[in-house]
Formats: sequence, C-alpha cells, structure tokens
Amino acid sequence: MKIAIMGAMLEEVEPFLELAEHEPLLKFFKKHSDTFYGGNTYHEAKYKGLDIVLGYSKIGKVNAGLTAATMIEKFGAEKLLFTGVAGAVNPSLKVGDLIAATQLCQHDLDITAFGHPHGYVPEGKVYVEPSRELLHIARKVAEEKGIPLKGGIIATGDQFIADPVRKEWIGKTFDADALEMEGAAVAVVCDALNVPFFILRSISDAADSDATFDFDEFLKHSSQVSSSFILAMLEEIADDQAQ
Ligand code: ADE
Repeated sequence: MKIAIMGAMLEEVEPFLELAEHEPLLKFFKKHSDTFYGGNTYHEAKYKGLDIVLGYSKIGKVNAGLTAATMIEKFGAEKLLFTGVAGAVNPSLKVGDLIAATQLCQHDLDITAFGHPHGYVPEGKVYVEPSRELLHIARKVAEEKGIPLKGGIIATGDQFIADPVRKEWIGKTFDADALEMEGAAVAVVCDALNVPFFILRSISDAADSDATFDFDEFLKHSSQVSSSFILAMLEEIADDQAQ
C-alpha cells in the first residue's frame, strides 16, 4: 500500500523529514530516495511495511492540486493524508487544537453572478467529503492515545485571512470551523481520482488581526502536533495491514 503524506509548507512536513534523519525512525524509514518533479521534491520511504511518498506543495490551491495529482498519478499513492496548520473560525478552537475535516469547500470560488451558491461550479459540489474509513482510523487513534480531535468543516481559499469581517463571512456562508489555503484543492483532486484522503490541521491562529503574528509564532509547534498525529495514524494503518 502506497500512502502520500502531504503538507503545503516545508515547516508542515519537516517533522517527518527530521524523524527520517533520526536514528530510531531510520529503523522504519528505509530506502530513502528523493525525486524533483514539477517544481517540488518528493521523498519516498518505507515505513513499517507501507510505501510512503512525502512532500510539500507550496502554498495555495493550484500548487496543492498539482502535488496531490502528482503523488497519485506519478508516484501511485493509494491514500493521501494531509498535515498542516489552519486558522480557527469556530471560537472553541484554540492554538494547537487538532481538527480533521469532515467536509471541505472553497470559500473564494464565486460564480454567484450566474445565480449559483458560493463555492459551487456546474458539475462540481460545494462540499467534498474525506474518506470515512480514514476518519474512523483518526477517531480510533485519538481515543486510544487520549488526544483531543475535533471534526468540522474546513474552508479553503487563496487568501491568508487576517480579517475578522472576512472570517465571519466565511464562517456564516459555509458553516466553516477552520480555514486554510489547500485542503479543498486536495479534496477535489482525490475525489475526482477516487483516492481516499484525510485532511488534518492544527490551529496556528484565529484568522483575526493578530493572525500573521500568531502564524509565525505557532507554525512550528502546530505543525509538530499535526505531524505526530499523522504518524500515529500511519502506525495504525500499518498494523491493520499487517493483520
Ligand atoms: N493557515 C493558517 N492560518 C491561516 C489563515 N489565517 N488564513 C489562511 N490560511 C491559514
């Protein structure tokens, strides 16, 4: 089974790369090899019997779509796990909290001029849903390890939101709990190509007037929180496969 581990920024996947350099994980990460393709580096590794392709796309929906499609079409990924950070919309979400997307939408996709709802284009859908099986594995891991994991709607757009008015609009229009800049693009690609996917984010900021400061401050920590959880999911998937 080949699994893609994807982030948008180097910082978001760096915990995996650091682990791969580290002695204990080298036991599991074997056959380490790198490929530069389409402007991004893809790392292939073996982890507990799973084939892994790991990489980051660069920020934004187009970059994310390219990387997700490349991981699937060129590297043969059969499942995709996304790890990274997000801005909180739901006030119950605080810095470091984990949110798994139950639905994803594009808050900046707008042909309302033609009478369509926000986030909709013909032959598409406003909300794309991740794999139920992967969500189930995530809930199991969270329960077993006692890690609080929330589920919710993630809204994606090609904008860093640092504005309470825009944030409130996204929350109201899409019933969104968190926002970021790649998840829905990955979701659309995986959905179209029938590849089960899972989008995990750890909160780095509240998408408000402090967002740029908070993002810089908490990017590393929140990336670590998200990566650790994805690693635990990989272990669960590997154990399931071994049985
Ligand atoms: N990712 C993390 N925080 C974000 C924000 N405030 N806006 C967009 N993407 C983000």
